[in-house]
Amino acid sequence: MTGNEIRKAFLDYFASKGHRVVESSPLVPQNDPTLLFTNAGMVQFKDVFTGQERREYRRATTCQKCLRVSGKHNDLENVGRTARHHTFFEMLGNFSFGDYFKRDAIRFAWEFLTERMGLDPDRLWVTIYEEDDEARDLWLAETPVPADRIVRCGAKDNFWAMGDTGPCGPCSEIHFDQGPGIYPCPDPDRCGPECDCDRFLELWNLVFMQFERSADGTMTPLPKPSIDTGMGLERVTAVVQKVHSNYDTDLFRPIIEFTADLAGVRYGQGEESDVSLRVVADHIRATTFLIADGVLPSNEGRGYVLRRIMRRAMRHGRMLGFEDPFFHRVSGVVIDQMEGAYPELSDKREYIAKVILHEEERFSRTLDRGLQILEEEVARLEERGEKVIPGDVVFRLYDTYGFPVDLTEDIVRDRGFTLDEAGFEAEMEAQREKARAAWKGSGEEAVAEVYRELRASGVSCRFVGYERLEAHTVVSALVRDGQRAAEAREGDAVELVLAETPFYGESGGQVGDTGSVEGEGFRVRVESATKPFPDLIVLHGTVVRGGVREGDRAVGRVEAGARFATAQNHSATHLLHAALRQVLGDHVKQAGSLVAPDRLRFDFTHFAPMTPEEIREVERRVNRWVQANHPVIVAEESFEEARRQGVTALFGEKYGDVVRVVRMGEVSAELCGGTHASRTGDIGLFKILSEGGVAAGVRRIEAATGDRALEWAFGVEDALREAAGLLRSKPEEVPDKVRRTLERTKELEREISSLRSQMAGGAARDVLGQAREVDGVKVLATRVPAADPKALREFADGLRDRLRSGIVVLGAEAGGKALLLVAVTKDLTKRVRAGDLIRPLAAKVGGRGGGKPELAQAGGPDPSGLDNALEAAYEEAARLLGA
Ligand code: ALA
Repeated sequence: MTGNEIRKAFLDYFASKGHRVVESSPLVPQNDPTLLFTNAGMVQFKDVFTGQERREYRRATTCQKCLRVSGKHNDLENVGRTARHHTFFEMLGNFSFGDYFKRDAIRFAWEFLTERMGLDPDRLWVTIYEEDDEARDLWLAETPVPADRIVRCGAKDNFWAMGDTGPCGPCSEIHFDQGPGIYPCPDPDRCGPECDCDRFLELWNLVFMQFERSADGTMTPLPKPSIDTGMGLERVTAVVQKVHSNYDTDLFRPIIEFTADLAGVRYGQGEESDVSLRVVADHIRATTFLIADGVLPSNEGRGYVLRRIMRRAMRHGRMLGFEDPFFHRVSGVVIDQMEGAYPELSDKREYIAKVILHEEERFSRTLDRGLQILEEEVARLEERGEKVIPGDVVFRLYDTYGFPVDLTEDIVRDRGFTLDEAGFEAEMEAQREKARAAWKGSGEEAVAEVYRELRASGVSCRFVGYERLEAHTVVSALVRDGQRAAEAREGDAVELVLAETPFYGESGGQVGDTGSVEGEGFRVRVESATKPFPDLIVLHGTVVRGGVREGDRAVGRVEAGARFATAQNHSATHLLHAALRQVLGDHVKQAGSLVAPDRLRFDFTHFAPMTPEEIREVERRVNRWVQANHPVIVAEESFEEARRQGVTALFGEKYGDVVRVVRMGEVSAELCGGTHASRTGDIGLFKILSEGGVAAGVRRIEAATGDRALEWAFGVEDALREAAGLLRSKPEEVPDKVRRTLERTKELEREISSLRSQMAGGAARDVLGQAREVDGVKVLATRVPAADPKALREFADGLRDRLRSGIVVLGAEAGGKALLLVAVTKDLTKRVRAGDLIRPLAAKVGGRGGGKPELAQAGGPDPSGLDNALEAAYEEAARLLGA
């Protein structure tokens, strides 16, 4: 049986026992922020087990895509080194939601393995949770398993939990005895299913779901005892196909063989390259499926896990001798093999290869250099007898050469080295500190010293601009010419800080507010506002009337129109973000933004230009949400709470413990400090003005809202109307009219050129009569109406063809200049070369000329000499012919 057949046989078997066959859920769990990746078949049924969700069926079966690379279940380190560890694997499972319990779970499993898969019952062993006598009795009653092959185990092995929280329960595992020969056990007398020697292969885990564990560790009984089972497809396939390694099954061999061929090595010779081939085979499956499910390599979260897997594979590629990108080519083999069971792979074939290639190109630039550095470091340490790679080296590899820490560890582990993780962490923290310092302030330069001083001397301000656009307050500090000042006079450029400020200081992509600060006898126009520190908002402006002093009472007023327009744009940015994720996929992430009164700009990760239809769809969605007039609700929440609810946070931003969450209906929830419309309807109208690329994998959208979107539409309409007026058509007929006009123009051009050559032919006939006989050779020198050298050549061609044998000299006046041409038929070039003839003639129009024996051209500034030149042509021809 092939792996594909076993997968199908499993699902068919449980379908025949009344189970609903349910599709695998994506690798990225839906609505479950507690889990980075789906790591078991039961994940999509979590809420069904706890009773929070109801389904129309009580028995289900799945083949679930799983990834175990992080958290409680992490197999990454062992991949390639053992016969049975994987990052990505498929879990076959059957589930009962309060329907059958232990007895049927045991019967089904036994029947499937022994009768459908034909496994030898004498090779099967069973483990149970040490306190679970009920399970033991059921195994004895329902199956022929003898008591001495039922082994009791502790909670570590036989109590299963999805994560630190969630449904859990005691379990019972079925193991397959591969025989004593393959993995000689160091302790054969005590060897059994719980031994680490690999002789006993855990095949199937039957979990008797009975509890829900909460964060504080308490166990609450589930409403109804349930069943969750999991069997690795790769393992059962290995046993059925009678091979000792999952990598020898037909699920892996095609991938390994393809890679081996590509690398020009052979698999299974016990060489070091075997490990690399297995790593590549495992990692390409994980990579292909992750990208298909919307994950892109990045520096955070899921994207970083993917990057780590990919880079590990690339480094093994180097060990196999690949110099050029290869990994992207292997994904095609995975898709060929899996698309039958996972149709979502098919239409992403090219996209997946492109994403991988991009990452390969990116990393290959630094991989070699990084490896070399590490090599040198290892050699240096070995010489000294040291075994720990210093933190700063690990950090430099990470920061400059893109080596994930676990990659570095993987490279040196076999040589007995470990990493100074504390040292690495310290370097990371120092860098974060630096980044924080650089980020505050304008984001471009470090914070001006004067602002530091202000803050050090206790100046701060309270932002009241979320609630009000006006504040009656005092001027708490003034800065003039970069120095703190006691006062500023009319005409001075000034920076000032208000004790209470309604002005939003530029941050999070939103520009600062404009407006005015007025007090007794003075007025300051505020042109911008910045936020060098979270509690310091500085207004930049000009004193337009009177003088202002520190401590003066003042009223700060934000320009309401601009603020409103900015708020429209900011809220629209959130809706745009949400719409892009719906239309393009979850890989879309904000990569930067600018929100100003007159425009918004949004940069995001995506691999291809958007199609016109995608752009339209995004516009439609955003405008639909605008019309739905969702309230914009702002709440302060703990960061943890917000994250639990799946609120969109930006990578690289540092959030405090309490964050501001901006929600728009069910559509959007983002962490954001900006100012917003009160309802989405305030946006009025949303229009994308442009979409383009800014960097590899980063796109940029510029858009307008409200009146600016309307003005934009007016502009387009005006242009169209004007075009319609010029074309004397209705606006909607413009494209058709333009198309027809262009076609007509082409026709006319063709007509003109054919008329031209007819005219040239006719003129040629007329002038032919003027030819004179010179020394037995026909010589024709005449003026023709030609506007440029090309037209002159066309005349000459016509005349020469008609003369058959002879010399043609043409002159024309064009644009105030004289043009001359001499053509000599081939039979005469031995006697007269065109270039020789034209030289003396060109001199008569004040120019020079030259060319080939058959054709020469000249130009000169003096057309009045043209007749002379033409007349002289006969004498010059005679001279040359006579010579
Ligand atoms: N959920 C159980 C496991 O993953 C079946 O082993």
